[in-house]
Amino acid sequence: MSRNNERRKRILVTGGAGFIGSHLSDRLLAEGHEVICVDNLMTGCRRNIEHLRDNPGFSFRLHDVTVPLDIEVDEIYNLACPASPVHYQRDPVQTVKTSVLGAINMLDLARRLDVPILQASTSEVYGDPLVHPQPESYWGNVNPAGPRACYDEGKRCAETLFLDYHRQHGVDIRIARIFNTYGPRLRRADGRVISNFIVQALRGEPVTIYGDGGQTRSFCFVSDMVDGLVRLMSAGEARMGPVNLGNPRECTMKDLAGRILQETASRSPLVYLPLPEDDPRQRQPDIGLARTALGWAPRVALEAGIRETVGHFRRLEAPGGDRTGPATAGDGLQNTQGGSRTCFPL
Ligand SMILES: NC(=O)c1ccc[n+]([C@@H]2O[C@H](COP(=O)([O-])OP(=O)(O)OC[C@H]3O[C@@H](n4cnc5c(N)ncnc54)[C@H](O)[C@@H]3O)[C@@H](O)[C@H]2O)c1
Repeated sequence: MSRNNERRKRILVTGGAGFIGSHLSDRLLAEGHEVICVDNLMTGCRRNIEHLRDNPGFSFRLHDVTVPLDIEVDEIYNLACPASPVHYQRDPVQTVKTSVLGAINMLDLARRLDVPILQASTSEVYGDPLVHPQPESYWGNVNPAGPRACYDEGKRCAETLFLDYHRQHGVDIRIARIFNTYGPRLRRADGRVISNFIVQALRGEPVTIYGDGGQTRSFCFVSDMVDGLVRLMSAGEARMGPVNLGNPRECTMKDLAGRILQETASRSPLVYLPLPEDDPRQRQPDIGLARTALGWAPRVALEAGIRETVGHFRRLEAPGGDRTGPATAGDGLQNTQGGSRTCFPL
């Protein structure tokens, strides 16, 4: 056991077949823990966890977190929720249910078991921020009636629930406000900017920039994010967070596109499309709290992270590569509404 000789834990990762959840599962297993991955495969996919199939410490349960779950574990990471606007806006009611009912169900479980629970919140709780960079004390500028509200307000309500379960029931909570994260296992049809740009560049298709490309984001490589989440969970306080986790290095969309064209040696043209409604102009985490409280800061430079991510998409795009598209209903969503089934190990 590498982590401070801690005992082997049985850890629940909801959303564990998704992008961040699968990397988190890898990390927890590498530390010698047992991981139970719970996912309805709405946006996650079996491919992300296929390599864990023969790992005796890993099991997968097809389950929708809007339905209560009865399971015995020592820690809970609650990551289940579609994260990309195209996916969370496809079924906004389900997105709200996942955030709110999912939080209640997992908090009830944490309360019954008396175990710590971590919520994957988001920088979207700041909306289109009027304060820059965003510290945790900033209350945000969210449109509660817009198309992004199902996600933004769902995540804000989940934070409220976490804090109220702590204050009212003494549940041991951690809240991570995750800023844009990228890396291998992003899906081609994910709809987030880095995956869109890389796939377009590799295919020689026009790279689509929304607005004038002057809006900024800051991108955190997935291994850094996972490290932040694990450190946050290990923080020995009964309430930790909200804590921003993200890379403070800011980058315009135009600059990002240029870097990706360079890395892929692509001659794709840039095309400019209208900015989507409520798209934030700028995003940059203030990570002062994470630095002092967790001793955490991102270490992977954007250039290195993009290189690794391009490598992942090159493998997917290669002839004979896995060209599987986005998860479909057949992957499990429809047959898990209202139920649960252990299906991995198969
Ligand atoms: N990646 C980012 O940049 C980012 C930024 C901010 C917050 N987050 C948060 O981190 C978490 C993971 O994000 P990700 O990027 O890995 O997204 P993802 O879409 O790859 O993973 C989410 C996972 O949750 C599963 N899921 C969705 N609804 C579910 C439900 N009702 N029951 C069970 N499983 C369900 C999906 O199938 C998927 O496997 C999410 O909660 C997201 O809001 C991510």
